[in-house]
Amino acid sequence: MTQIFAMINMRGGVGKTTTTVSVGYELARLGYRVLLGDFDSQRTLTVYLGIEVKPGKPTVYAFMTEPTEANVRGGIVPYVGTAKYPVSFPGKGCLHVLPGARSITTAYKQFMLSQARQPAQSYNAAIAYGVQTFLTDYDFFLCDPSPSADETTAAVTNAAHRVVAPVAAEPLSIFGVDDLLQDLTDINDGRADLLTTLAQKQARVRLPQEVILEGLLAAKVLPSQRRVAESLWTSLDHNGIGHFGHTYIPCTDAGWAAPAEHVPIAVIAPTDPIVVGYHAVAEQLAAH
Ligand SMILES: Nc1ncnc2c1ncn2[C@@H]1O[C@H](COP(=O)(O)OP(=O)(O)OP(=O)(O)O)[C@@H](O)[C@H]1O
Ligand SMILES: [Mg+2]
Repeated sequence: MTQIFAMINMRGGVGKTTTTVSVGYELARLGYRVLLGDFDSQRTLTVYLGIEVKPGKPTVYAFMTEPTEANVRGGIVPYVGTAKYPVSFPGKGCLHVLPGARSITTAYKQFMLSQARQPAQSYNAAIAYGVQTFLTDYDFFLCDPSPSADETTAAVTNAAHRVVAPVAAEPLSIFGVDDLLQDLTDINDGRADLLTTLAQKQARVRLPQEVILEGLLAAKVLPSQRRVAESLWTSLDHNGIGHFGHTYIPCTDAGWAAPAEHVPIAVIAPTDPIVVGYHAVAEQLAAH
């Protein structure tokens, strides 16, 4: 059964997309079958990995508004690296991509217009229906939403088994954690309704009673911010909020250089400390 993870933070540029790509790559290297979903209208993940969507091919837009088997499977693209940097994975390991679409911003409206013939009763339940088409094909579905608090980001968070929240090691960003926790509380307050809807419609996706915050992940941490990251762990422990032990993601040149090559950071800089960090995160996710 596919485990759905959402990389959430309403702050822009904190490393959500980089975390999705890097953790997905590390999971695939561990032999897991991984699908990455680009739910951001900026299509950053799709562009990062150099995925070109052929005209007429379904994208995440069809996934949200018309989740037929043909639409969902027909949209998925295997990631094989580039001519300069081909990638392969051990055993059954794979990294596939559900490409993004600029039109995802209109998907909610389209869903509501066609609600009567939708398999899901609500937009928040829509992802569960798309996932049903590949439940036994992928071990992990890692979802990368936009930083805006729109309906699609809410649907991604609602659909998740667990959430990973990349945060910057800056005081302002840490204050924003309260908003994130409040969003999760609100979602979990409405969780019973979502689960009832899925049960009534006999959905095969099993979601937990609550979206679980797997952890906050300090990302893009400069050497001078290390102490802020350390005080973050202390205050998270104090408040019973999850994190990834003392793992954090440093800010290094490889972090911004890799997207230009359309490859995960580990491909161009296998010994970079960023890679060590994301490998540790992937091992923690794989433990579920
Ligand atoms: N550890 C890192 N070190 C250096 N640069 C990084 C690191 N992680 C991410 N970056 C760079 O920072 C920028 C923003 O990262 P990313 O796109 O992952 O953030 P995001 O949270 O997904 O942004 P958005 O909110 O726009 O979706 C990108 O140029 C990326 O290459
Ligand atoms: Mg992003």
